[in-house]
Amino acid sequence: MTATVRPKAGAAGVSQTNVRVDALVARMTLDQKIGQMTQPERIHVSPAEVKAFHIGSVLSGGGSCPGRSRPADWVAMNDAYWAASMEEDEDHLAIPLLYGVDAIHGNGNVRGATIFPHNIGLGAMRDPDLIERIGRVTSREVLAAGVEWTFAPTLAVSRDARWGRTYESYSEDPRIVAGYASRIVRGLQDGRMGVGPNGVVACAKHWVGDGGTEAGVDQGDTVVGEEDLRRLHIAPYRPALEAGVLTVMVSLSSWKGAKCHAHRYLIQDVLKGEMGFGGFVVSDWNGIDPLADDYSKAAAMAANAGIDMFMVPETWKSFISGLRTQVERGAVPIERIDDAVGRILRVKSAIGLFDRPRPWARRASNDVEFGSAEHREVAREAVRKSLVLLKNRRGILPLQRDARILVTGRNAHDRGRQCGGFTVEWQGVSGNDAIEGGTSIWEGIREVAPRAVLCEKGGADATREHFDAAIVVIGEKPYAEGLGDIREPAPVRAGAIQPAAGPGVLEPYGDTLELATLHPEDLGTIRALAARDIPVVTVLISGRPLVVNAELSESSAFVAAWLPGSEGAGVADVLFGDCEFHGRLPVSWPADMPGDGDSRSNGTRGTRARALFPLGYGLRMGSLRRC
Ligand code: BGC
Repeated sequence: MTATVRPKAGAAGVSQTNVRVDALVARMTLDQKIGQMTQPERIHVSPAEVKAFHIGSVLSGGGSCPGRSRPADWVAMNDAYWAASMEEDEDHLAIPLLYGVDAIHGNGNVRGATIFPHNIGLGAMRDPDLIERIGRVTSREVLAAGVEWTFAPTLAVSRDARWGRTYESYSEDPRIVAGYASRIVRGLQDGRMGVGPNGVVACAKHWVGDGGTEAGVDQGDTVVGEEDLRRLHIAPYRPALEAGVLTVMVSLSSWKGAKCHAHRYLIQDVLKGEMGFGGFVVSDWNGIDPLADDYSKAAAMAANAGIDMFMVPETWKSFISGLRTQVERGAVPIERIDDAVGRILRVKSAIGLFDRPRPWARRASNDVEFGSAEHREVAREAVRKSLVLLKNRRGILPLQRDARILVTGRNAHDRGRQCGGFTVEWQGVSGNDAIEGGTSIWEGIREVAPRAVLCEKGGADATREHFDAAIVVIGEKPYAEGLGDIREPAPVRAGAIQPAAGPGVLEPYGDTLELATLHPEDLGTIRALAARDIPVVTVLISGRPLVVNAELSESSAFVAAWLPGSEGAGVADVLFGDCEFHGRLPVSWPADMPGDGDSRSNGTRGTRARALFPLGYGLRMGSLRRC
């Protein structure tokens, strides 16, 4: 039997005594309860089905957008779902639907949104106040789309740069992640302890150990003892819970061979019991699929482990019938179902969803501040603060505004690549068309340095006579999740990753962290310019630290810009000395490719992989104003 853990009195965020919720649960049929626990993906569920199956929540997977993906399209879609959920008759109770999206660095699915640097860049800032402001802007842009829930923040502590989700992690150091956790939750939820009127529901993810898997394999196995699991991976959740985070998403990874999605000890005992989490726990995308061959048994295992809501994007009808069968058989106690539904309804009540008007009528919907200059200024500040200076030979930086500068490199004029994964599409986009608003790095340089010239082809015939320096913007192309891993191609279970990945085999980003192997043309560009005596300032766009020894040694200056998002102009602010470098490495920088034995079990990054620059490293240009 599953113990039903009542959240501890005083657990922040949700009120445990809620007459409205208790009354509702008492009236609900089993179908209505299971429907409330079910979260299909928007492509696979209509408003009519939301009503017919009593669905509690719908999500957008990365890149899944209504219409032309303007805020108004989103509001219209949510309004239709909401209206269906609120129809009341003898078969259906009016319970407002909760819509969820991955606003993990701004509301990136929506066209024209303000896109912030991905978390790894934010980790370099060491600025919790700015993190909270970013949360506030993000929640406004989520509400502008008529949405009330974001699957953020990611509280992963990334321990191996081969992991394709390294950029979603603020740092390899749990103290840095923990230092941001409460502030991002407060910003998103608009409250010190719970939710304010301008807040959305936040979701701490992925519980737990997602960043600690062996060899950095996405959805892999985290093989650490309990003490290390707590110290490294559980620790950042404490401040998030204290700040009242309302939901937690379970990790697709395993702990010592046991899938987190069936881990009763981690979910029910530690998170809900010991830590007193009073909100609800949501599964990840098809996260229950690998638990058992029999889908209904998989559903039962996950429900008994303490999962309250199920992200079952396409197979939601089988989930509903499967869980129903298991409850009828007594394999899932009705008390567990009531506990799950009570938690979901208490979260809906905590954000005032029962009392908010329909999406069309909400003041925050279609907010004119969506993508505004004011919001973009917050993102630009984050870009400035996230840049880390790794080399500055003979003080070549800052550059003079009137210098003759050649700007080149694959990523110099590409807002899509600056943004990385989870922007417009699940896997991100390349080019400028889909990222509306904002500036590429080149566009920012052009604003301040009138004699700068863009030469996207590498500037093979540039000479020292014509140019004082070159800015070469290099690095990765966008990716997300396992498709960003550095490893050998591997078969994947159908449904274990989102459909855009294609069936069958997971093609990772590459099999090395060495940039000169992944993208040899970058080194070629730097070398060609350096050979002509043109001092090269290299700007690296990447979701993780890469092995860049050759590029570093050929460059006069080298800047890690991470994935800065839509406001590329923040890079020029610093390169031309409007303000000082501020960022410090949120992860140690490898001198060579880690071996498989380097997935550190005791938590000290780099004990075996050699670090070129330690955690916290970051040069300054000297005597410039702080940004
Ligand atoms: C990811 C989650 C994300 C979910 C919904 C999953 O593939 O692991 O982080 O929130 O999709 O898009």
